[in-house]
Amino acid sequence: MTTTEHAPLTTPEVGGLGHSRKRVEDARFLEGRGNYVDDMTLPGMLHMAIHRSPLAHARILSIDTSEAEAVEGVVAVVTGELLAGYNLAWMPTLSGDTQAVLATDKVRFQGQEIAAVIATDRYIAQDAADRIVVEYEDLEPIVTPQRSLEADAPIIRDDKEGQESNLVYEWESGDKVATDAAFAKADRIVELDTFYPRSHPSPLETCGIVADVNSATGQATLYMTSQAPHAHRTVFALVAGLPEQNIRIVSPDIGGGFGNKVPVYPGYVVATAASLVIGKPVKWVETRTENLISTGFGRDYHMHGELAVTNDGKILGLRVEMLSDQGAFFSDAQPTKFRAGLFHIVTGSYDYPVAHVSTKGAYTNKAPGGVAYRCSFRVTEASYMIERLVQNAAYELGMDPAEFRMKNFIKKDQFPYLSPTGFVYDSGDYEKALKLAMEMVGYDEIQKEKAEGRADGKLVGIGIASFTEVVGAGHGDDYDILGLRMFDSAELRIHPTGKAILKLGVKSQGQGHETTFAQIVAEELGLPASDIKVVEGDTDNTPYGLGTYASRSTPVAGAATAMVARNLREKAKKIAAHLLEASEEDLEWEVGKFHVKGDPDSSVTIQDIAFAAYTNPGDSEPGLEGVHYYDPPNMTYPFGSYIVVVDVDPATGQWKVRRMVAVDDCGVKINPMIVEGQIHGGLTEGYAMSSMQHISFDEAGNCIGSNFMDYLIPTAWETPRFELGETVTPSPHHPIGAKGVGESATVGSPAAYVNAVMDALQPYGVKNIDMPVSADRVWAAIKNSGS
Ligand code: CDP
Repeated sequence: MTTTEHAPLTTPEVGGLGHSRKRVEDARFLEGRGNYVDDMTLPGMLHMAIHRSPLAHARILSIDTSEAEAVEGVVAVVTGELLAGYNLAWMPTLSGDTQAVLATDKVRFQGQEIAAVIATDRYIAQDAADRIVVEYEDLEPIVTPQRSLEADAPIIRDDKEGQESNLVYEWESGDKVATDAAFAKADRIVELDTFYPRSHPSPLETCGIVADVNSATGQATLYMTSQAPHAHRTVFALVAGLPEQNIRIVSPDIGGGFGNKVPVYPGYVVATAASLVIGKPVKWVETRTENLISTGFGRDYHMHGELAVTNDGKILGLRVEMLSDQGAFFSDAQPTKFRAGLFHIVTGSYDYPVAHVSTKGAYTNKAPGGVAYRCSFRVTEASYMIERLVQNAAYELGMDPAEFRMKNFIKKDQFPYLSPTGFVYDSGDYEKALKLAMEMVGYDEIQKEKAEGRADGKLVGIGIASFTEVVGAGHGDDYDILGLRMFDSAELRIHPTGKAILKLGVKSQGQGHETTFAQIVAEELGLPASDIKVVEGDTDNTPYGLGTYASRSTPVAGAATAMVARNLREKAKKIAAHLLEASEEDLEWEVGKFHVKGDPDSSVTIQDIAFAAYTNPGDSEPGLEGVHYYDPPNMTYPFGSYIVVVDVDPATGQWKVRRMVAVDDCGVKINPMIVEGQIHGGLTEGYAMSSMQHISFDEAGNCIGSNFMDYLIPTAWETPRFELGETVTPSPHHPIGAKGVGESATVGSPAAYVNAVMDALQPYGVKNIDMPVSADRVWAAIKNSGS
């Protein structure tokens, strides 16, 4: 990695910030000792399978469960009608909509849950579920948001009183009048119509639950694939009417989430209800196909963008209209005072005074979509839009795309920067990141090679994306889930022997929290990271938090961790003063100990102090533990510059990534190795989306992409090699200057890949190409250009 990093303050033995500490969680994963939901086996446990709709839109005339009930080993068959008796046929979603738990009136997407079978064995349950017979009356399937919003389209959500169209929401941001005025003055208006296709986060582990409701105690223990166990517990309390203290959600090891494990799925609710009624534990674990056809999709956004520019290359304003296909239920997690997420950064890394953005969401007969698939809100789509537009603007003006960007970047001294859509970017140095990426890739030489190659019919393309990101929701006044403020929490207990346990409200799904959060404590207290155990994902044993998604763990829970450690250091200082018989003002902190100013030999270590806290605390309250709830003052704004070089074969349309240079800035890094892993993952996902990964539907609403033969995910074979660089611009408001990084590369990189292919196609005057950029599409673009 090309780096501008500073030396760590702590030794490798202590392992504070900046050390590439090996992931402590890996030992159990590598030895097959992980503990996932499907590993859970409880005495007397039953298994559940779900009968799903084969149709996208149809009225249910009857449901016959008799054959299923007759199968030996079947304990119960649950239908929506049965659930309705417990007021559980519908549930609230995290976006304030409602969703059918088991369909009673209509089916609204292919794969929707209609009935569930509980049996002694998973295979018996599935066989019986297949024997359920449902009689339907076909209704027109609506598979595009455009058709959905036409006046004569059938109303998909006729269950909702007062719902007279298929519109889910309509939001706008910015100043329309001022933006129109800026456009009237522009020398040119650059346009782009593009579609960000529907894709699926497809974590390695599918969703599942083992619900164990003890009828004697009323205690419900739910082992669940949850990215947000505390928020889910509150939702369960509200949905099922169970007292919250009687619900314990345990989210054990999670095999990837990427936003897929944020929503509450019908399967969780039915398994819990079944366990409650039957009085035995019930396990439900999705198959791969069930996961791919029915759980939280991402993207599916139609976008039209316009950039007003002057002939000498200054951006004057931005106008964007977007239309989102939300599927049949609005069930991702959106803050109630939502200022449509894409607004945050749709103006990109560029400085111009005005913008106007409007967005609509429409119901369709598809599985619920719009989850923040490895992104905050809809910022992946926004970032893609602006970076494609900027590249197009440079072509129209005959300018080099890098030069056009440099000319319009928000400058380093303009931060904190108020964007035209009303968000305050905390910090950035976009010019530095792009310059470093250009140096690393050898920008000028490649441009030269490209020009020379064109004479011989060779197609080389160089594509840039200089993205800005936004991660770390809240502040709680602006961001919430069902009214729950988006803060997070950390509880730290230092035991008498100087070893510690850190409990968090967030929940890792593979990001390495057990490794990195211990490093924050190590930095603040000088306790070796290896002496600190990190615990997450158990609502009875961790403080309340809103969970892990949208790269919020480091900006929010990371800050809470630093703050609780600092609070304990304050208490430790009092105890140190007592032990050293000095006044607190006379003490100085160095890593892991206090000493008397001017007398370094007169010192006590943090371990000595921990022991004293339980044996000789002086006037202080005994013990050394605390909890901190952190409501961030603002989001953090990581950024980066990616440059992709591609070779395109004009005869076949095939394109190959020759170089991918990625310069990221996530502020202060806790663990450089883990950050690198996060970026590699994101760059791979960006490549996937740009080249192959999408889910489509036929006219009848059949999901094309219900398995990994149809839904293509790149393997190591196709994935390009990445060259990483970094700049370090600390977040000014985060206690340790860190910003999130988990999603940056997924958000930033798709535009770089597509811009590179577009660049290669410039000799043919190609104006646009949509993702996934398949060889067929490239070939057709060349052919249609008439050259
Ligand atoms: O919320 P999520 O864990 O998905 O994302 P994140 O906060 O961006 O963190 C992803 C992983 O990268 C965690 O293990 C972080 O501790 C680590 N990280 C880091 O080491 N330094 C940063 N500046 C940001 C994240």
